[in-house]
Amino acid sequence: RTVYVNGQYLPEEDANVSIFDRGFLFADAVYEVTSVLDGKLIAYDGHVERLWRSLKELDMAAPCTPDELLEIHRELVSRNGIDEGLVYLQVSRGSDGDRDFVFPGAETKPTLVLFTQNKPGLADNPAAKKGAKIISVDDIRWGRRDIKTVQLLYPSMAKMMAKAAGCDDAWLIEDGHVTEGTSNNAYIVKGGKIITRPLSNDILHGITREAVLRFAAEAQMEVEERLFTIDEAKEADEAFTTSASAFVMPVVEIDGVALGDGAPGSVAPRLREIYIDEMR
Ligand code: PDD
Repeated sequence: RTVYVNGQYLPEEDANVSIFDRGFLFADAVYEVTSVLDGKLIAYDGHVERLWRSLKELDMAAPCTPDELLEIHRELVSRNGIDEGLVYLQVSRGSDGDRDFVFPGAETKPTLVLFTQNKPGLADNPAAKKGAKIISVDDIRWGRRDIKTVQLLYPSMAKMMAKAAGCDDAWLIEDGHVTEGTSNNAYIVKGGKIITRPLSNDILHGITREAVLRFAAEAQMEVEERLFTIDEAKEADEAFTTSASAFVMPVVEIDGVALGDGAPGSVAPRLREIYIDEMR
């Protein structure tokens, strides 16, 4: 695999970042994951806009221009022959060669790393036909989940708790309400209405969410943005998640409770199909 680090395209085994990099020592870094279908980047503009927002919120310098970043994405997709897959991008605050809680000065350059992940079958994913089983766990993350930082230890632990319970993923709960999934936005469907949490600092402003809600409205589906509880979710007709890496994923079971007849319903598979058709 050819990867990108700070201006260079290199074989992955030759790519290096300093041990003092603040991304490594402080999780002082932001990231984006963009999917690739038929060799084309999906919803790229949304990801780049959100990246610039994350950088701004953390007072971190941009590593290059948006045009340069697009060029790096395209170059990596092409060099690695990605037809279906993902591009991972990370910007960290870099390092001035020591460990210090205080941010380094403006002379310190951010670290930019990108790599691709080849995922044949991303669109025609058999897991989406089966649907996901999820558990609910407490949301103990920090209060700025709208910033896409690499502080992913707790979501990673929540995913491990799901695996240990024989499930696929976890939804995170705060004050009884669902915030989002470990790495996706969360939705329920009741009486044909799609219900999802409104945007705030409590959740990531999903790029897939934005497109899916637009397509749902265009298809005359009713959408309500409001808080919903995990108990309400267990009584829903359907549920699903959205993310750049899994598009629209039906949820068929929550904490051992089957939704509907325990198979993907009609709304989530339809939205998945519309999303993939419209975006590719
Ligand atoms: N995760 N919520 C969280 C906490 C996420 O980490 C993600 C994305 C989303 C969905 O956002 P989008 O539709 O823009 O991908 C929501 C990526 C895919 C990841 O961490 O791999």
